[in-house]
Amino acid sequence: MTKILFICLGNICRSPMAETIFKHIAEQHGADDDYFVDSAGLIGFHAGEPADERMQRHARRHGYHITHRSRPMREYDFADFDIVVAMDEDNVSRLNRMAPTLEAQGKIVRMTDYLTHHTADHVPDPYYGGDSGFEHVIELLEDACAELFRQTNH
Ligand code: 4NP
Repeated sequence: MTKILFICLGNICRSPMAETIFKHIAEQHGADDDYFVDSAGLIGFHAGEPADERMQRHARRHGYHITHRSRPMREYDFADFDIVVAMDEDNVSRLNRMAPTLEAQGKIVRMTDYLTHHTADHVPDPYYGGDSGFEHVIELLEDACAELFRQTNH
């Protein structure tokens, strides 16, 4: 069982979308029983809320249904998960500060390190932008999640 936690700032746009896409890929490959997948945010501001309405709308357009409700990242998540996937450099530095041990820090990876068809060094926060930002998030996450699945599916 591989346990993957996707992280972003608010846990209402990028990371719940990543969680949904990754689960979809695992299901398509009949590998959903091999994974435990969740997402969390670095701020608790939106805790308990469903994904941003705009992210949900763009997700539906691509055949995805986001069911996650926002929750904040906790220190003990580092013990519960094998891989902690950050969307941008701010996520990485906040996670590094939160990590209780070097082993925990070693679990932090960047989503963009798994891109195979796109070149980007972060998944841009779509929150304050328009439709194209949400579409771009889905495009990057589909690319990177496919490769993350390929590398972890044994
Ligand atoms: P996310 O987007 O990190 O992709 O969920 C954001 C959502 C909310 C806020 C920031 C980013 N916010 O500041 O409320």
